[in-house]
Amino acid sequence: MTRPLTPRQRRGSPKAAEPSTQKLILALDVDTFSKAKYFVNLLYPKIRIFKVGSQLFTGSGPKIIEFIHKKGAQVFLDLKFYDIPNTVANAVRQAARLEVKMLTLHISGGEQMLKEAVKAAKSEALRLKVKRPLLVGVTVLTSQEASREDILRLAKSGLSFGLDGVVCSAQEVKFLRENIKEKCIIVTPGIRPKTGSRDDQKRIATAPEALKAGSSFLVVGRPILEAKDPQEALKGLW
Ligand code: C5P
Repeated sequence: MTRPLTPRQRRGSPKAAEPSTQKLILALDVDTFSKAKYFVNLLYPKIRIFKVGSQLFTGSGPKIIEFIHKKGAQVFLDLKFYDIPNTVANAVRQAARLEVKMLTLHISGGEQMLKEAVKAAKSEALRLKVKRPLLVGVTVLTSQEASREDILRLAKSGLSFGLDGVVCSAQEVKFLRENIKEKCIIVTPGIRPKTGSRDDQKRIATAPEALKAGSSFLVVGRPILEAKDPQEALKGLW
C-alpha cells in the first residue's frame, strides 16, 4: 500500500524541475475531473502547479485538489472571490483547509473584504498548523482593456491591505515592478507562444518576455489544453 505524501513532500520533491518550468502554472480549464486528471498525469512534474478555476471546481469539487496534492503538485485555486467580507473570509478559511498554495480574490471587493480575507487565511492556517495560502488580488481581467495607472492603483491598494501579490498581464509587470517598492508576487495570465491564437486575451506576452519583465508565475491554459501534443506545446512556450 502506498502512503499518502506529507504536506512537505507535496510542496516539492528534491528532484526539482527547471526554474522556468517551476514558475509555470497550467490552467486546468476543463469541464470534468477525468480531463483534469489526464492533464495532471501527462504534465506533472514538468508542471508542478495547477490552477483550478470556477469551471472545474464547480464541476468536480474539492476531489480534484486532493488528486493534485496526492500526485505531489500544488494548487492555485482561482475562484476570484468577490462578496461581502464575511462570506469571502469563510471561503478563504475553506481554501486554507484544502491547503492550496495560492488563491485569488478581486481587489475591487474593497478594504474590509481584503483585510478579513487575509486575517482568515492566517488564523485558519495557524489553527490547523498548515502553510497558509498566498492571497493574490485580481486587478483587471486580461480580456479587458485597462490603463496601467488603474492597474497600479488597484495593485497598491490590494498590497496595502495585506495581499501577497497581484494578477496582471505581462504588459503591466515591468511598470508595476518599477512603481511598487515592496516585494510581492506577480501572477501573469495571457501567456502565448510566439505564433498562434490569442483567443480572447487582449494583453498577451510570451513566457520569456513575462519572466524578463518580472512575473513570478505564469498562467497558461488553451495553448496547452487545445494543442494536438500538449507536451510539445509546453516546450514551444520557451
Ligand atoms: O487559456 P488561457 O491561457 O487564456 O487561460 C488564462 C487563464 O488565466 C484562465 O484560466 C483565466 O481565468 C485566467 N485569468 C486571466 N486573467 C486574469 C486572471 C486569471 O485570464 N486577470
